[in-house]
Amino acid sequence: MTTKAKVIAFANQKGGVAKTTTTLNTAVAFAEEGHRVLVVDMDPQGNLTMSQGIDPDTVETSMYDVLVHHTSIREAIRKREVDVACASIDLAGAEIAMSTQIGRERSLQKAFVPILEDYDFICIDTPPSLGLLTINALTAADRVIVPVQCEYLSMRGLIQLQNTLAMIRENLNPNIEIEGILPTLVDSRTIHAKEAIAILEENFGDRVFASRIRKTVRFAEAPVKGMSVLKYEPDGTAAESYRLLAKEVIENGKR
Ligand SMILES: Nc1ncnc2c1ncn2[C@@H]1O[C@H](COP(=O)(O)OP(=O)(O)OP(=O)(O)O)[C@@H](O)[C@H]1O
Ligand SMILES: [Mg+2]
Repeated sequence: MTTKAKVIAFANQKGGVAKTTTTLNTAVAFAEEGHRVLVVDMDPQGNLTMSQGIDPDTVETSMYDVLVHHTSIREAIRKREVDVACASIDLAGAEIAMSTQIGRERSLQKAFVPILEDYDFICIDTPPSLGLLTINALTAADRVIVPVQCEYLSMRGLIQLQNTLAMIRENLNPNIEIEGILPTLVDSRTIHAKEAIAILEENFGDRVFASRIRKTVRFAEAPVKGMSVLKYEPDGTAAESYRLLAKEVIENGKR
């Protein structure tokens, strides 16, 4: 029996909420469980690509070519802890290059078709905006994981994301659902963080993951070494928190 990959986009138009960190570490945690995993770097900043030790400046075939020239995505993939479909700096020009193409919102979805049976999970990192690159990710995805920094101001942005999802559902991808909202950068010593999580749960109920990702400097150290935290400090609490998240997602999928 062949199974098709579950495609998960990691999205929040707010910057610096741990989208990239969550994409990579969740993906590596899926791989530890024996799954075949691809991560896709849809952010012109190339942080996901860099965090696996790949320099976006030296990438020959990138997601730019896949999206704009319809090059096979296999040519943009490098094998690291997981397979990485790389970004390069020219990805910044992709939105403009795609803007006049018919089917511009479905370019990524189309690119995935030939590889869906090669993977169990495809995890897409998105830029901090709701432009065409993020729209492509949301159109190609079955589910969205929304990392949220636990601050009052960050949570207002969730309404905007929900409006975008409603638009995507109506026009491009009727089946997309929020897999879960993930509290990140949690400083559990502060009352503010506790209050923010309480507000999140009041508004989003059981769509908030039980997993919490705490603040620790390990998440800044690991990418410098080109590693996930699961490889950088396998027995640390940072690694464990993403293993728990991956288990939550796998369990959700069985329901
Ligand atoms: N749990 C954490 N504790 C401490 N630092 C963290 C944690 N998670 C991520 N960071 C750090 O916070 C910064 C932002 O994280 P990351 O790059 O994953 O966010 P992002 O949402 O992808 O940002 P952008 O919107 O720019 O793409 C990085 O320097 C990262 O190392
Ligand atoms: Mg990022």
